[in-house]
Amino acid sequence: MNQIRNNAINNEIQENLLKWFDKNKRDLPWRKTKDPYKIWISEIMLQQTRVDTVIQYYQRFVKRFPAVKELAEADEQDVLKHWQGLGYYSRVRNLHKGAKMILKQYHGIFPDTMEEIKKIPGIGPYTAGAVLSIAFNQPYPAVDGNVLRVFSRIMDIHEDIAQASTVKLIQEKVKELIPQGRASDFTEALMELGALLCIPANPLCLACPLYEQCEARARGVQNDLPVKTKKQKPKKMHMVFCVVKKGEEILMIKNPANGLLGGLWSFPGKEAGEKQDEEAVNQILEELKLNAIDIKKIGTARHIFTHMDWDMHIYQCAVKNKEKIDEEHLWITKEEFGDYPIPKVYQKVCKLILNSNNMDN
Ligand code: ADE
Repeated sequence: MNQIRNNAINNEIQENLLKWFDKNKRDLPWRKTKDPYKIWISEIMLQQTRVDTVIQYYQRFVKRFPAVKELAEADEQDVLKHWQGLGYYSRVRNLHKGAKMILKQYHGIFPDTMEEIKKIPGIGPYTAGAVLSIAFNQPYPAVDGNVLRVFSRIMDIHEDIAQASTVKLIQEKVKELIPQGRASDFTEALMELGALLCIPANPLCLACPLYEQCEARARGVQNDLPVKTKKQKPKKMHMVFCVVKKGEEILMIKNPANGLLGGLWSFPGKEAGEKQDEEAVNQILEELKLNAIDIKKIGTARHIFTHMDWDMHIYQCAVKNKEKIDEEHLWITKEEFGDYPIPKVYQKVCKLILNSNNMDN
């Protein structure tokens, strides 16, 4: 009896959700294609970044790198430049590595099995499920934060969604529900419901196609779900940076490939104790083997990463001799900032320089 009732509810969930999606889905650029390469790009961009922001980046990226081959053969600096502003740069470095692997091992043709796809750098269970279901219409679940929220409400699940066991439980529930032949729409419909109606605070239950089937709504506890342990606050750090000038040119440093913001350009700097800016500036210059004069503070900025909260103190100085010209060091004018991949955190320093009237030696 229970099984019959469950089957009936499952059918209602599938039908109501798909009908709602067919009528209400947003017109998003990655929904105009079934190309697994483009779905892959969109899904990686959509991790941690809002749809509104992703649209422009996606269009520019797939225009410049329309297929695996173009991305695989591109210069890393060019790839990073097209990601600049999206953050989480390890994602794009993995995309680049993944494209190289697909070109080499699969002649540029995106693989279509779970076994092969999950070997591609940066592709975990979520992205694998999203590409297999959306591009290839295969019945794999793609469970991200939105889907965890939607399902914890539909099923009235009160276990912490930060725990692997809860994610697994929900992945199984989603898999069980994927309708025959409509995996692609079902995956996108769940994401769409999470984005448009089953939103984190004050979900729009009255407009929801799953109003009748939602157990949390029936009990009036939809606002208490999902249960999620709080993330740790980003660590506060006092950071000192040097804008080193030689005439019109400014010294930029390329971050090591595997570290924070790897491959992107930064200003020399380091963490310092509060009230130890002077020592920090001297250490930075010493490490660069530069003798600087006219050291003065030009401003402050703040940047919050996932795990760090930088209180940035920015100094300017002048040097007579330009040393340090190699792959990792570069002297550029402020007009050339736009030619290099510079992450948001250092764009804040660029802005300060561009707005500063006293940058002349
Ligand atoms: N969030 C993650 N993947 C998405 C998609 N394909 N469409 C809209 N939002 C998403």
